[in-house]
Amino acid sequence: MKVLVTGGAGFIGSAVCRHLVKNSSDRVVNVDKLTYAGNLESLKTLSGNADYAFYKADICDQKKMLEIMRNEDIDAIMHLAAESHVDRSIDGPGAFIETNIVGTFRLLNAALEYWRGLGGKRQQEFRFHHISTDEVFGDLPFDSGIFTEVTPYAPSSPYSASKAASDHLVRAWHETYGLPVVLSNCSNNYGPYHFPEKLIPLVILNALHERALPVYGRGENVRDWLHVNDHARALEMVMKDGAIGESYNIGGNAERTNLSVVETICSVLDKKRPRAGGRKYADLITFVADRPGHDRRYAIDASKIEKELGWNPQETFESGITSTIDWYLDNEWWWRPIRNKNYAGERLGVQPAGKRS
Ligand code: NAD
Ligand code: DAU
Repeated sequence: MKVLVTGGAGFIGSAVCRHLVKNSSDRVVNVDKLTYAGNLESLKTLSGNADYAFYKADICDQKKMLEIMRNEDIDAIMHLAAESHVDRSIDGPGAFIETNIVGTFRLLNAALEYWRGLGGKRQQEFRFHHISTDEVFGDLPFDSGIFTEVTPYAPSSPYSASKAASDHLVRAWHETYGLPVVLSNCSNNYGPYHFPEKLIPLVILNALHERALPVYGRGENVRDWLHVNDHARALEMVMKDGAIGESYNIGGNAERTNLSVVETICSVLDKKRPRAGGRKYADLITFVADRPGHDRRYAIDASKIEKELGWNPQETFESGITSTIDWYLDNEWWWRPIRNKNYAGERLGVQPAGKRS
């Protein structure tokens, strides 16, 4: 297959590109605008590979998207390009509306025109796979509930609202125009090449720099963590074997409070890179003002993808967090330039309302 991956220079997109090139005979065409979150260094292992191509382009550019689909004779689209950081969506929702909603609309239009021009079997087999998030389902109580594929949408943040809108557009292009789509909604990913301002890499790197480890509120919020390589495998299965018009929830069955995630990282680092004078990394934990609109708990019921497509996560949170910490200890060449350029220790996501754009 010739697979167009949007957002392939991001955290999950780059894992998908590396996974497909390594484990399938597919040709991978990566289309990415290279925002602050896009990094071609994450794809270094693919450079020069005949099964991989990169285009620097914006998904909002409908004409360019159609041109790439035609030039590359695409069989399937995996749409990951997005503005993805909740805290940044609180400071500046505009880019989220532009890329996640308008960009998805333009990409759908290009895909529809391209798909209509395909003949017979290729038209039947074409897929538009939209990659989305559990955050569209909103807030669960601490002690009950789980997200299934039929949980009603109730997004809380500008980010999750923009992703919910994009999910609705994708379903509408299927129902109204017949575009063969499939969707997936995943929980929090972690692993190598994760942008250093997200919780897990931020805590690892702040600890190594002897900086405060910021925990929002009391650290009681719960996220359901999944290793990015397990997600990449799931996405290949959904794209190739998922039923048209269906959505699949993907999660690692690894609910943890934020505080317990941070404490786990601290205790692994205590063993691997002990602080001077017998001090503990957990002493750096600092409780800071909560995120506005902070959803309490996310939890994914992944039984549909497990039963129907035979997917299961291979990593436990304990094995995955240890190998992730090892990766950050071994790959300073990757994170050092990003951290120097993007992270001055400032708190994101607490801008007063008047500054929103
Ligand atoms: P990311 O921010 O690391 O990567 C996004 C990529 O999209 C970047 O390479 C960026 O340059 C590119 N991009 C942004 N705007 C673009 C545009 N207009 N045109 C072309 N490219 C553009 O995000 P991620 O964490 O890899 O997430 C990928 C997808 O998975 C997103 O759609 C996100 O909503 C979804 N998702 C993420 C998680 C998670 O835990 N990270 C969980 C569930 C779902
Ligand atoms: O649930 C899936 C989502 O996971 C994806 O859709 C998003 O694209 C992805 O960015 C991620 O969103 P989160 O907001 O959950 O990720 P983040 O790493 O920013 O935060 C994880 C949790 O940790 C969240 O409850 C907020 C908290 N947090 C975050 C940061 C950056 C802290 O306590 N301190 C921090 O410094």
